[in-house]
Amino acid sequence: MCGIVGYVGPRPVVELLIPGLARLEYRGYDSAGLAIQQQDSIAVIKQVGRIADLEHALSLSPLPEGHTGIGHTRWATHGAPNTINAHPHRDCTGSVIVAHNGIIENWADLRSELIAGGHEFASDTDTEVVAHMLEDLADLPLAEAVRSVMKRTDGALALVVMRASDPDLLVGARRGSPLVVGKGDGENFLASDIPAFLEHTRRMVVVDEDRVVEITKESIRITDLEGTELPLEERVIEWDLEAAEKGGFSTFMEKEIHEQPRAITDTLRGRIRRDGLVDLSELGLDPERLRIVDKVYVVACGTSFHAAMMAKYAIERWVRLPVEIDIASEFRYRDPVLDSNSLVIAISQSGETIDTMAAARYAKAQGCLLIGVTNVVDSALARESNAVLYTRAGPEIGVAATKTFTTQLVALQLLGLYLAQVRGSRDEGSLVHLAAAVRSLPKLVEEALQASTDIEDISQKFAHTRDVFFLGRSGDFPVAMEGALKLKEIAYLRAEGYAAGEMKHGPIALIEPGVLVVGVATDTHVRAKTISNMQEMKARGATIVMVVERGHEQEAEEVADHVLTVPPGPDLICTVTAVVPLQLLAYHIATAHGLDVDKPRNLAKTVTVE
Ligand code: M6R
Repeated sequence: MCGIVGYVGPRPVVELLIPGLARLEYRGYDSAGLAIQQQDSIAVIKQVGRIADLEHALSLSPLPEGHTGIGHTRWATHGAPNTINAHPHRDCTGSVIVAHNGIIENWADLRSELIAGGHEFASDTDTEVVAHMLEDLADLPLAEAVRSVMKRTDGALALVVMRASDPDLLVGARRGSPLVVGKGDGENFLASDIPAFLEHTRRMVVVDEDRVVEITKESIRITDLEGTELPLEERVIEWDLEAAEKGGFSTFMEKEIHEQPRAITDTLRGRIRRDGLVDLSELGLDPERLRIVDKVYVVACGTSFHAAMMAKYAIERWVRLPVEIDIASEFRYRDPVLDSNSLVIAISQSGETIDTMAAARYAKAQGCLLIGVTNVVDSALARESNAVLYTRAGPEIGVAATKTFTTQLVALQLLGLYLAQVRGSRDEGSLVHLAAAVRSLPKLVEEALQASTDIEDISQKFAHTRDVFFLGRSGDFPVAMEGALKLKEIAYLRAEGYAAGEMKHGPIALIEPGVLVVGVATDTHVRAKTISNMQEMKARGATIVMVVERGHEQEAEEVADHVLTVPPGPDLICTVTAVVPLQLLAYHIATAHGLDVDKPRNLAKTVTVE
């Protein structure tokens, strides 16, 4: 997501900020901007597109030299990716400058209040409210004004601000989004991540939650929101630049697997009300439009299709509407029966997959209501859809989908609960109960990730396995399919995902000693059946791994050679936790083979050909 880099010191700042932003490119962005402190004012330049586009704009209208400044790369959340919405943002006078990473949940209320107070907004962003709030607090020292803003804002914020009346001072603040200080000699940096300053200093200070930091070229001061000064805990960075971009993980895929609790937290933010019910009014859909829907189609490709499989089970169970799911490349050519009462949900993390786009356009042309689920703001799918539900996973660099998959599952669970609520298909008590379980997912996924080392050990034993089956029923079926796809695409093993009950209708002929079968049995109402299907595999000589909820290890141990546990939770919602051990299994098997998991052979992150 967005990247920030700030500098105070003796060097010409543009020459530091541009390479600093380039080091944050891996976070993904759609526009970039700089703010440079002048004698009594602050100059700003912004440009939609890549950093090279910003450099081109700078070559046409160079900024005067300065020694204090902020750079920002924006990954759009509120407002389209364009030059006006690019950061940094200004107050009405142009003397307060703000760069932000995260989402300000109560921005709409704050914006209305500020407009009523006479402020004029230039952009559609949530960020701009901060600049205008600071304008109203011009009499306070900048750090105190920022503390006051932090107390009035909800959501995720990493802020870096400067004010024309406070030369050579940057103030940062953090809640939810990362912010670190780079400590130099006679110069200091503030950034979203270490690579932005690593070539200049290896000394750093992490800004903790709900802290405000002031940097000048000679000083660093951190306070809590009450203004109490806190000791600085300086660390020395041992990593090189490449490792720093991966946050200390060996690969982007590993980093992204471990980012899932944060990505799910972001995807949930602002979508479950205080009364415990789901709020997707952001879709802007008239509830009446949702009530006349009589059939749902979900279309997607690859991993996103596995999210569609889970959506089918959830919508049928919670909303009591018939749901058909289709691989997008089949949907568009099979002449599906659609009309204006059909709801089509198209899922694509990139929002650009050509097959999914063609299916979405076809559905829209038939008069269907089209809801897009995507991770990329303003992507082709977002623009085509009548309503968009964004996953907020942040950019995914690894070709294999991990955090974009689990956030799709979460977004679709929220959509299922919202449809049930609007259509009155379930009582409020049960909806609140299910939404609470969805809300607990970041914690549960965190717990599931703790098994990574055990899974690494087990994976070594399977390094020479060639044939693997992943089996599950009900909500565990899409999980099994996803486990098999992960293993195929990054470890190049022959892996098949099957409905556990289907094995006896043919594929069981392939089971013999040396075959690995991974059974997923977290769905309570079919657990016993899946376990007995696994007995059938064991009887034919397969090696068995079982994924079960904590508390069911004993049943699983009766059949399995290895048992992996995930924290318990309601059926279907548990798909999110159940897939984590399978992502880790594929990851560790692939790395045991020395394969490049971030760039598997023959695969592209976004598939824009038929
Ligand atoms: O961007 P999309 O979600 O539309 O992409 C769909 C598939 O191409 C994608 O999920 C692919 O299967 C990944 N390699 C899965 O890891």
